[in-house]
Amino acid sequence: MWGGRFAAGPSAIMREINASIPFDKALWRQDIAASKAHVAMLGAQGIVAAEDVKAILDGLDRVAAEYEASGVPENWDLEDIHMTTESRLAELIGPAAGRLHTARSRNDQVATDFRLWVRDAIDQADAGLEALQKALVARAGEHADSIMPGFTHLQTAQPVTLGHHLMAYYEMAARDRSRFADARLRLNRCPLGSAALAGTGFPIDRFMTAQALGFDAPTANSLDAVSDRDFALDYLMAAAQCALHLSRLAEEFIIWASQPFGFAALPDSLSTGSSIMPQKKNPDAAELVRGHAGRVIGCLTALMVTMKGLPLAYSKDMQDDKPPVFEAAGLLALSIAAMTGMVAETTFRTERMRAAAELGYATATDLADWLVRQANIPFREAHHITGAAVKLAESRGVALDKLPLADLQAIDARIDERVYAALSVEASVAARASHGGTAPDEVRKRVAEARRALGLE
Ligand code: ARG
Repeated sequence: MWGGRFAAGPSAIMREINASIPFDKALWRQDIAASKAHVAMLGAQGIVAAEDVKAILDGLDRVAAEYEASGVPENWDLEDIHMTTESRLAELIGPAAGRLHTARSRNDQVATDFRLWVRDAIDQADAGLEALQKALVARAGEHADSIMPGFTHLQTAQPVTLGHHLMAYYEMAARDRSRFADARLRLNRCPLGSAALAGTGFPIDRFMTAQALGFDAPTANSLDAVSDRDFALDYLMAAAQCALHLSRLAEEFIIWASQPFGFAALPDSLSTGSSIMPQKKNPDAAELVRGHAGRVIGCLTALMVTMKGLPLAYSKDMQDDKPPVFEAAGLLALSIAAMTGMVAETTFRTERMRAAAELGYATATDLADWLVRQANIPFREAHHITGAAVKLAESRGVALDKLPLADLQAIDARIDERVYAALSVEASVAARASHGGTAPDEVRKRVAEARRALGLE
């Protein structure tokens, strides 16, 4: 394709290092679509004759049918998907194929193909996250009243509801979707027609190709358009943050499924056994989601480091943009699907969760709050009095609400029997009805809002 000025062919090493076909064949659908849009525009603008346009369009359909049926052939001499397709087109339709590359370059071609591919990946991530949100909302609705210990520092802090805990991940998924939507907005400009770097002297219509490919508009600067990979970085940043959220959710399930916790039984379908310990049921899927987040972050880092310091316009370094994006997209899709299944199918052991919430003096803050409200004691002093009560309960090995009134009154005479109503875990969660709080009624409100946002009611 470019041999005109060369006396000798490339060395074996050159052929191998140069070839991107082993991975960029994944762009074949986008490459065919962009070529069809381009040649239709060349025809409409009178740059290529109608019969050649028709031959090229039909030929591209035949190439696509071949790829669909038997895959994309990998010939390193043809370097990449663009030359592989054009060369096959030439074999099928003859010299007219040579007119397809008028007024374009592989630089604007690959930028266009890759944007189309990343746009699909964004749409796929969004659909996956929507399914995850639906699973979270369904389980949160079931468990708006189920009480579990809430943690800070992974130490029992205050009772919360399982529904509230699950809805926290709904919020993260909502922000992830908004980040992907935001990335899509900026991505959706068409580089096609920027040619190698400077634009073209042919009277092309860039608005026509942009529209045909579903872009909002053509890009505004040809140098930027062929060398910009922000859209891929935006995608990877959103993917990395999403993977990070999924890894946190995965970690919760891993902890909950451990025997000392016993808060959850993971679905068999997403667990594995041990080849030596017959009793084991391992949370491998969750662990791999936790692990995959590291790889997705690595993909983001890889592309950022590839792009840093590149001068305008295209440099061949940029061919390395695709593997990290393809890898991240595959890992992310799997991770979202695995966590959706985990959320939907895990059995929550609510009686164990409740029992754990009773331990660890989770309602100590409620005693302090009660002293503030009922006895008008400043919070700091109430905190101190409560500390003494916890110390006493601990020395006796009992829960706060099992301390006799006389003992509580010995610590502070302003305590009376009404305090017991505040010390149960039910009273504790019901009291936290501030906007966004853990009270079952608040959780139900938020679940209903989420269901509306998801079009479920
Ligand atoms: N395979 C190349 C890539 O992915 C296509 C662009 C090649 N452009 C060039 N000037 N060599 O980046």
